[in-house]
Amino acid sequence: MSYYEIQGGRPLSGRLTVQGAKNSVLPILAAALLAPGESVIHNCPDLSDVSATLDILRLLGCRVEQQGDTVAVDATAPGRTGIPEHLMREMRSSVIFLGAVLARMGEVELSYPGGCELGPRPIDLHLAALRTLGAEILEEQGSLLARRGRGGMAGREICLPFPSVGATENAMLAACSCPGTTAIVGAAREPEIADLQRFLRAMGAEVSGAGSSTVTVTGGRPLHPAEHRVMGDRIVAATHLCAVAAARGELELTGVEPGTLSAVLDRLEEAGCRIHTEDGRICLSSAAPLRGVRQVRTAPYPGFPTDAQAILMAALAGGTGATLFVENIFENRYRHVDELGRMGADIQVAGRAAMVSGVGKLHGAAVRSTDLRGGAALVVAGLAAEGTTRVTGLAHIDRGYAALDRDLRALGAEIRRLP
Ligand code: EPZ
Repeated sequence: MSYYEIQGGRPLSGRLTVQGAKNSVLPILAAALLAPGESVIHNCPDLSDVSATLDILRLLGCRVEQQGDTVAVDATAPGRTGIPEHLMREMRSSVIFLGAVLARMGEVELSYPGGCELGPRPIDLHLAALRTLGAEILEEQGSLLARRGRGGMAGREICLPFPSVGATENAMLAACSCPGTTAIVGAAREPEIADLQRFLRAMGAEVSGAGSSTVTVTGGRPLHPAEHRVMGDRIVAATHLCAVAAARGELELTGVEPGTLSAVLDRLEEAGCRIHTEDGRICLSSAAPLRGVRQVRTAPYPGFPTDAQAILMAALAGGTGATLFVENIFENRYRHVDELGRMGADIQVAGRAAMVSGVGKLHGAAVRSTDLRGGAALVVAGLAAEGTTRVTGLAHIDRGYAALDRDLRALGAEIRRLP
């Protein structure tokens, strides 16, 4: 089983271009199903979650070709409507195919996407949204069979009691095939929703409002294939920034829109970093131990992103001062705390709250990734810690980072992937 070996305590400096956004490319690849013909997606990151999604598209009958970071998806004649359990288990966010396959084929069968390291991950909001549009959904023995109801499907108002990212995306995709107007009220406002809207519009869909709390889709018209460049990954950008902030040094990032991670940039500035953004570039310099910051409460966008919680925590754990985190989105997103404790971090967890008391300097240790962002957090901590850190469980990290070690070596980090 491969692992990262990190010699920490060295300052970093350099320039990086951020990879395409995992949480944007996954729904966009599913959306390619909506139109017969070949769509071309650029800036597609080389991730295990992307490979799993391409496998599902192939299994559904699409022709898929990948050249570098460009993927061509030919959805002329998808022949299947079922997604097998092993692929659903491999990546629970395959649930995004629910709306896309239902829209294109009129029915879809998939096994219940189980929970994951972050908690049970229910999909009740997805199912309620599709039922509002007229879908009939049978749930039995862990399987879901959704089909257009006998009365057909039509645009309606969908009210989301929580701005679920996935439920918003599934509703948008299903609504594209529903004649009439669908208003998704209480929609998620994440930038990835706006990226999906850009792709759907390029396909000829009538979609508006992404980024606000109400997304409107006028559906029922035929769509055509399109070409699209995926937005930069704001969480990978936050990872690189927190790594340099913690280890000290200078970083210039391109390929990501600074406004998509302003909640993270604000916290890093408060912790003592100098940050400058212009022409789509983010420049950070860090010359002193990070200070504690005011409460970090994770929230739906534009609040502080839950995906950056572990990463910022790891950066602050080796600084000075105290910071209170409150994780409001997922039930079980402090699994990285014990591993950071092995590196000398002082973090007290009580329910959704975690109090981080900076200890001035962490020390290297053998640690294990417990989930995608928790694993990235351990790498951030290892870069700043004195001595050698060994991070195992890289399969978690490979889900969201195309080449984290290569990117960090470009900044002068001593990190190797072994064996
Ligand atoms: C997306 O997950 C992202 N994944 C997650 O990124 C991200 O953490 C999350 O949004 C929040 O921003 C992808 O886009 C592939 P949600 P998603 O539906 O859509 C509850 C990463 O690290 N909920 O907004 O699954 C749910 O349990 C990953 O890249 C319901 O109760 O998130 C959770 O507590 C991790 N019922 C909260 O809402 C539902 O039907 C947020 O879930 C759906 C969600």
